[in-house]
Amino acid sequence: MTGLNARAQEILRRNDRGGYTVPTHGLYPYQWNWDSAFVALGFAEFDRDRAWREIETLISAQWEDGMIPHIVFHQEDPGYFPGPSVWATGKTPPTSGITQPPVLASIVRSLWETEGADPACPRMAALYAACLRSHRWFHQYRDPLGNGLVMVTHNWETGRDNSSEWDDALARVDTSGVGTYQRRDTGHVDAAMRPTQQEYDRYVAILQFGRNTGWNHREIADKGPFRVLDVGMSMELLRANRDLLVMAQALGDQPTIAELEARIALSYQGMDWLWNDEVGAYCSRDVTTGESSGLVTNASFLAFYADVGSPAQGARLIEALARIRTSARYLLPSLEAGSRDYDHKRYWRGPIWLVVSYMVAQGLVEQGHLDWAEQIRTDSAALIETSGFYESFSPETGQGSGGPDFSWTAAMWLAWCGKGRAA
Ligand code: GLC
Repeated sequence: MTGLNARAQEILRRNDRGGYTVPTHGLYPYQWNWDSAFVALGFAEFDRDRAWREIETLISAQWEDGMIPHIVFHQEDPGYFPGPSVWATGKTPPTSGITQPPVLASIVRSLWETEGADPACPRMAALYAACLRSHRWFHQYRDPLGNGLVMVTHNWETGRDNSSEWDDALARVDTSGVGTYQRRDTGHVDAAMRPTQQEYDRYVAILQFGRNTGWNHREIADKGPFRVLDVGMSMELLRANRDLLVMAQALGDQPTIAELEARIALSYQGMDWLWNDEVGAYCSRDVTTGESSGLVTNASFLAFYADVGSPAQGARLIEALARIRTSARYLLPSLEAGSRDYDHKRYWRGPIWLVVSYMVAQGLVEQGHLDWAEQIRTDSAALIETSGFYESFSPETGQGSGGPDFSWTAAMWLAWCGKGRAA
């Protein structure tokens, strides 16, 4: 085994807290929803049982209504804010009150297929049922326009926490009642790599709104202070529904097959609502104002992953990628350089995040853009080879940002960009 492969495995083992993995020691001491999905792909490379368990542990915290929470607080940790007592969801185990990107079904399909796609696989069947309940939750609570797209009610749900895409909607959030609290993130990493204090106040204000409703997701969806259609989650859910459909077919779940097919068709049509012809890309869009963000982010390119768009739209997206390439030494930045508030070091306003790059590259392969997929893959590997297993990386210098020894970065090395590389 080469050095980086061994190192990546060691990171996953060290971040393992027994059935679940923390994203990184210190900064994120609990189980995160979409992190666990990607981490399972990493474990699958050397411990298949542990890969399934990662997801099963996450699912054990699924809400009765089907929502899979974004954080599961398996144990207390004073080093994190906002912890379980701030969310106050009253669940066992304690969880946050919001969700995260629905990538789980796609990853369950991948685990199951690499083991031979046996329709009688009980672990797949159980997780299929859990993913279906979670997708139905999205359809029921998060599709306000009835067009198959995904509305988020907190920017943390998108996983792209401080992307500039949310700025306009966040600016309308009233923070006058937030009160005082102590941030913990800036005690772990450089504040220049984290959201600003004003941004954090807004995040907390939205959280407090949800808590004050008793985490009533109907009320939050209808009246919440933050209501945005996220291009990333819309693409991810469409993709996940397609992957779920493959499992439904293998299981012979006839009524669900019809339900999923209808849902998929709806999302394909609805996606045009996110297309911004001026910038030639799919962009997030505010539900309250109807405004498109007009920002090209890494999530815009998930259109390939979802297999969305006409050949002409695909060509414009490739044009955007080529343009981004001219200013980025490494692909794929989370925000195009030159965009409002672009900052190559600050979290989701520029830095590269390998999990999004992985999904985009997978989509590019499937759509026949092999050169671009390979460019993203080799750039991603080079980042790890030069800087280590950081949370994110500067697209300009390749330097790591955020937390070190990050679980999903290690997983992406093992399952994707490090494959076949001598290290
Ligand atoms: C940050 C990221 C989010 C991730 C979490 C744990 O909040 O923005 O996507 O899930 O950290 O790694």
